[in-house]
Amino acid sequence: MPVPRYADQPALARLQIRLRSRCLPYDLLDRHAAAEGDLLDYGCGYGLVTAHLANDKRRILGYDIDPDRVAAAERALGSDGVSFTTSLDEVAARTYDQILMLDVLYLIPDELHDALFQQFFTWLRPGGSLLLKETLHTGSLAYRLVVAEELLLRALGRTKGQVVRFHQEGYYRALAEREGFEIETATRRASLTNEWGAWLCRRPG
Ligand SMILES: C[S@@+](CC[C@H](N)C(=O)[O-])C[C@H]1O[C@@H](n2cnc3c(N)ncnc32)[C@H](O)[C@@H]1O
Repeated sequence: MPVPRYADQPALARLQIRLRSRCLPYDLLDRHAAAEGDLLDYGCGYGLVTAHLANDKRRILGYDIDPDRVAAAERALGSDGVSFTTSLDEVAARTYDQILMLDVLYLIPDELHDALFQQFFTWLRPGGSLLLKETLHTGSLAYRLVVAEELLLRALGRTKGQVVRFHQEGYYRALAEREGFEIETATRRASLTNEWGAWLCRRPG
């Protein structure tokens, strides 16, 4: 599905959406997203990941703590197979073939990560997967630029989240394995403006 226009959003939000849509790792999604079934887009924001994946074989629920983003996503993308919510009860009432969490964990305090991954494990059907992507804490100039951008977005009130905290690669792998996931593939990319890792984590069948 092409990126929606989000015509009802203020100019700053539309700019943020346009910039985000340009740097999403579409090839990662094409390679690792479940081809069919029930998907949860955790921390969906405006729903850009969902917009890319939506088709008649996937039923996608987007969840985010930001009610404005969820409402905008629902207006732009809501349909028979695609819906958005701010209700964790609604999320927890279903099970999934895949959970996608792209660039969200850094906004959640470390002490909540294990409990969150335990929840993911129980929400996934046996054999289901978690696709996690995060900026890597490398100390490079690219990393510093990402941190500066995130702090600016927070100062402008453009991102909801309790913290801005990135980790090194081993942190994410260890977190997933501690909660019972098997790492099926790991991806690492570096460019002038970002360095990120992604992990396809499988709940054993
Ligand atoms: C950088 S955006 C990424 C949005 C989307 N995943 C994407 O790739 O375009 C981070 C999103 O995480 C959401 N978020 C922050 N803390 C969250 C939490 N505790 N639970 C769910 N979503 C959260 C924010 O509201 C924001 O929409």
